[in-house]
Amino acid sequence: MINVAIVGMGAISPSHIKSYLQFSDRCRLQALCDITPEKAEKRADEFNLEVDIVNDYKKLLEREDIHLVSVCTPPYTHADISIDLLKAGKHVLVEKPMASSLKECDAMNQAARESGRQLSVVAQNRFKTEMMSLKHVLETKLMGPIVHTQVDSFWWRGYSYYDLWWRGTWEKEGGGCTLNHAVHHIDIFQWMNGMPAEITAVTANTTHDNAEIEDLSVAIGRYENGSLAQITSSVVHHGEEQQLIFQGKNARVSVPWKLKASKSKENGFPEEDEELTAKIKKEYEAQPVLSYEGHPGQIDDVLEAVENDSEVLVDGEEGRKTLELITAIYQSSTFKESVKLPLDNNSPFYTRENMLKNAPHFYEKKNVVQDFDENEITTGGNYQS
Ligand SMILES: NC(=O)c1ccc[n+]([C@@H]2O[C@H](COP(=O)([O-])OP(=O)(O)OC[C@H]3O[C@@H](n4cnc5c(N)ncnc54)[C@H](O)[C@@H]3O)[C@@H](O)[C@H]2O)c1
Repeated sequence: MINVAIVGMGAISPSHIKSYLQFSDRCRLQALCDITPEKAEKRADEFNLEVDIVNDYKKLLEREDIHLVSVCTPPYTHADISIDLLKAGKHVLVEKPMASSLKECDAMNQAARESGRQLSVVAQNRFKTEMMSLKHVLETKLMGPIVHTQVDSFWWRGYSYYDLWWRGTWEKEGGGCTLNHAVHHIDIFQWMNGMPAEITAVTANTTHDNAEIEDLSVAIGRYENGSLAQITSSVVHHGEEQQLIFQGKNARVSVPWKLKASKSKENGFPEEDEELTAKIKKEYEAQPVLSYEGHPGQIDDVLEAVENDSEVLVDGEEGRKTLELITAIYQSSTFKESVKLPLDNNSPFYTRENMLKNAPHFYEKKNVVQDFDENEITTGGNYQS
């Protein structure tokens, strides 16, 4: 039986609580922690949990009866809390974004390596039947080399969204929609297509003059072989139509699922390649429906890794790659230059201190609310075609 604690009892915490409860034959919720302990008490009541309530995660460090901890606090706290937990011998599942700088990611990965404990970064959108099926199709390489990828990480958040105390600031949120929303699709992009060699990006704040950070960014990734990717990160898109489209030389595939394969007529104009279409369709349709999707899917993966000392799907190295792309977007847009990957400790955005020194303030944070009464949130797109 794996004993679990959760640190941070805000909006995302119910997704973790519900997931652990779904696997009650394999794990048990042992403690809930929040700097405002009333929030933990409220969650315990809401889910009828018999758990210890603590107001400081450090009180969990010495407890031998806790094996795995979900870190659900604001981004600026992820690194310190995760590193202390790993050093204390706990396995850690940390919410996205992994951290607010590459230096922090490197320190977290080092702590995981040295402790031999699991470190997983939440990327629950990977755990969707449509995503896993698309990933399989891409691995067949039936589409031929991918020449263009389109990542539309479109979300919509109203003005008051950035009034929450930690949002809308470089210091506490760590960035804007590129870091905190598009992180989901940038993770899936690098998982499916690999890392580009270079990033060129522009960021803007079009609609939220109560926030320091961007609410829109457009980035172009260039691969060594000349292929391109365009990544749009936004919280100003009505309808939140999120998609990733992969254009291969022979066919295009995407999530939400759509397939088109063209071959050339004698005059160079397209006609459908029916044979290839049928082959790719067969591969896609043969993929299994996942038993658990979203947070339950990822928590199942983490529990399995703890049980069997196996690898998690989204470890700290994967989390770092995603943050590397995001950091390159910030670096490129700030200095108005193309940025070559990989990024190391020479990047002006490698440390949190330098990021805070260099990052543009589009506006200053105007309002501060401690909490919203309305606690219901949405966590990602509908990927069904
Ligand atoms: N995976 C997803 O789809 C998804 C969705 C929403 C939020 N998130 C992520 O989850 C994290 C939390 O976001 P949220 O929306 O739940 O925020 P929130 O503000 O609703 O909740 C954060 C909670 O953490 C507590 N807290 C802050 N510092 C703490 C500390 N040092 N120790 C203990 N508790 C502390 C706060 O009191 C608060 O209750 C963020 O990293 C966010 O990006 C992920």
